Amino acid sequence: MNLVTPRPGSDASPTNQQCRDEILGEAWRELIGHITGFRRTALLLAATELGLLQLLTERSASAAAVSESVGVSIRAADIFLKALTAIGLLSLEDGQYRLKASFRALFEPGPQSVVPNIMLYKTEVEVWFRMSGIMRGTDSSPIHYSRELFDSRLRLYSGIEMLNRLHAERVLQEIEPQVTSATRILDMGGGEGYYAGRILALNQNANVTILDLEGGFEACRERHEHLIEAGRLVLEVGDARTYSTVRGYDLVMMHELLEMFDAEEKGQIVASAMAALRPGGWLVITKFRLSDDGLDPASSALFSMRMWMKFREAYLESDSETEDLVKQHPISDLRRINSSKTIIVAQKAG
Ligand SMILES: C[S@@+](CC[C@H](N)C(=O)[O-])C[C@H]1O[C@@H](n2cnc3c(N)ncnc32)[C@H](O)[C@@H]1O
Repeated sequence: MNLVTPRPGSDASPTNQQCRDEILGEAWRELIGHITGFRRTALLLAATELGLLQLLTERSASAAAVSESVGVSIRAADIFLKALTAIGLLSLEDGQYRLKASFRALFEPGPQSVVPNIMLYKTEVEVWFRMSGIMRGTDSSPIHYSRELFDSRLRLYSGIEMLNRLHAERVLQEIEPQVTSATRILDMGGGEGYYAGRILALNQNANVTILDLEGGFEACRERHEHLIEAGRLVLEVGDARTYSTVRGYDLVMMHELLEMFDAEEKGQIVASAMAALRPGGWLVITKFRLSDDGLDPASSALFSMRMWMKFREAYLESDSETEDLVKQHPISDLRRINSSKTIIVAQKAG
């Protein structure tokens, strides 16, 4: 909307002032929408930290009962519960609050609980509120934020694992021909072992090597002890940027790996992957979708910022940028599949 230009000499007239307020007020309301997003974040964090959401999975409770069990005043409990209900987390019936049914399983005790996952965002909020200093280099991201999913820690966060499993199943459907025809498979940065386990179940002729950093295999060792003992799963410690092998794999995969690196390192990783393939072998890269202009979807533009905040100079490259990295090598085929993530499938020239 254009700013209305007031008539000369009548700037301060109540009508012009009102016109300007209407227009600027609309823009200001939009900014308020952005700047107050933290309120919902804080409500959800506090409700989790106080154990309220966990409590309200089991039973409904009044403000008085909540006041007693979480140790806040009745007035605080009343206002808090109403705010949580207003943003759609709780239901209210006859003065009794309950966590909405769709969220309950996520807060029940057990391995599927997203409570640790929610608390992970508390760290992120603290780091992101220092964004201007971190970008200027007068402050830095703490190492525990950068490495929050390294060293087998992914298994602590069932929310991420759940979505990863859903994505992986869709990806596996799309790359079924490559998976079922391969016998030697390399998963770069796949330390948690989900893809490896599923592929070894789908293809009895396959052996999988996972390349990951030191400390990245603990969960995988626990989950796939029998596959390791049988020699079908090999865990190799190494750095994807400098990895080199003479093995000649039929299929090399990397799922959500390139995003953690700067432009030069992304090129090094793709080069390592291509070099690890036998002629005619397949490279599969999965990543969050991102348009050429880096804007669409907005969630990926924000995710790219997240990568930069974690690993200085890292970013989520656009889908075309990933393709361009692959095209720098001799290939005979390249396809982009739009699934829940972008899947780039390329065949090394024979
Ligand atoms: C974001 S997770 C990706 C996990 C999994 N591939 C997936 O799709 O969910 C990052 C994984 O890459 C590993 N990683 C990070 N830097 C690496 C490097 N330079 N070389 C090999 N693996 C690396 C981490 O240890 C971790 O297991």
